[in-house]
Amino acid sequence: MIRLGAIADAPAALAAAKPAPKELTVADVPATAGSARSAPHTMMEEAFRTLRSKLLLRAPSDVRTFLFASARPGEGKSTIAANLACSLAGVQKRVLLIDADLRRPAAHRLFQVSNTRGLTDVLRGTCAGADAWQLSGRGPFVLPCGPLPDDPQALFETGHFAKLMADARRQFDVVLVDSAPLLAVADTTLMVPHIDAAVFVVRYGGVTEGEAALALERLHGAGGKVVGCVLSQVAASDDGFHSYASDYVKSDARAASRRDPS
Ligand SMILES: Nc1ncnc2c1ncn2[C@@H]1O[C@H](COP(=O)(O)OP(=O)(O)OP(=O)(O)O)[C@@H](O)[C@H]1O
Ligand SMILES: [Mg+2]
Repeated sequence: MIRLGAIADAPAALAAAKPAPKELTVADVPATAGSARSAPHTMMEEAFRTLRSKLLLRAPSDVRTFLFASARPGEGKSTIAANLACSLAGVQKRVLLIDADLRRPAAHRLFQVSNTRGLTDVLRGTCAGADAWQLSGRGPFVLPCGPLPDDPQALFETGHFAKLMADARRQFDVVLVDSAPLLAVADTTLMVPHIDAAVFVVRYGGVTEGEAALALERLHGAGGKVVGCVLSQVAASDDGFHSYASDYVKSDARAASRRDPS
């Protein structure tokens, strides 16, 4: 069993690596609320609801664009941004998820949308954002990466990213931007000045404290405002809180299944 940590103030407990037990997809957040579901499913949904409300409550109302950043690859940025986008769309927010990881893009796969046109075309100036983002079957709009470029960093230096973010701010309630790992490449820091706030994702046991601190330093150095940290991929056995939450959600799921036995 796994849990997405709620937004906390700083990365913590960077110990004992725990491999992810399975590939998560956006299917882990069901489209409709209120039906009877298994406890793990309900718990995952609950974790994203918590994240959603913390994000919306914690960020000032004029903060609408969020970067999902991490120190290293595989910490959970794409999975969390995609599922959070679904969760936000579920409360009638008009949401855009931008896949700005031009090296290991994931959104087109997670949402099963076409990747023939995307962010790389917008950054080249060959099409507008509105011509490249697509309404996914899961609720959010998705701007996939598009054809992979030879030099991703150069594309972020063109100035088109600033215009894209300005257009997206006008048209969406919330914009989530997935990114490449901060310690691996400079692409992410080039986007920071055009994004209101950053959410720092830390895989439990996946980075050292020094790596997390260096990545945060890069974010801050580029002018980023970090509104919170998501501790991801925490095993239930490592988390005392979880056993209480798990019991609570299980009894909730049992009550729902009694109400709706279908
Ligand atoms: N909370 C979670 N619990 C369990 N597994 C998770 C969780 N979040 C992500 N994973 C799994 O961890 C792996 C890496 O996740 P993901 O691709 O989202 O990371 P990433 O930070 O976007 O990586 P990259 O920097 O390489 O793009 C995937 O197999 C994903 O299914
Ligand atoms: Mg990713």
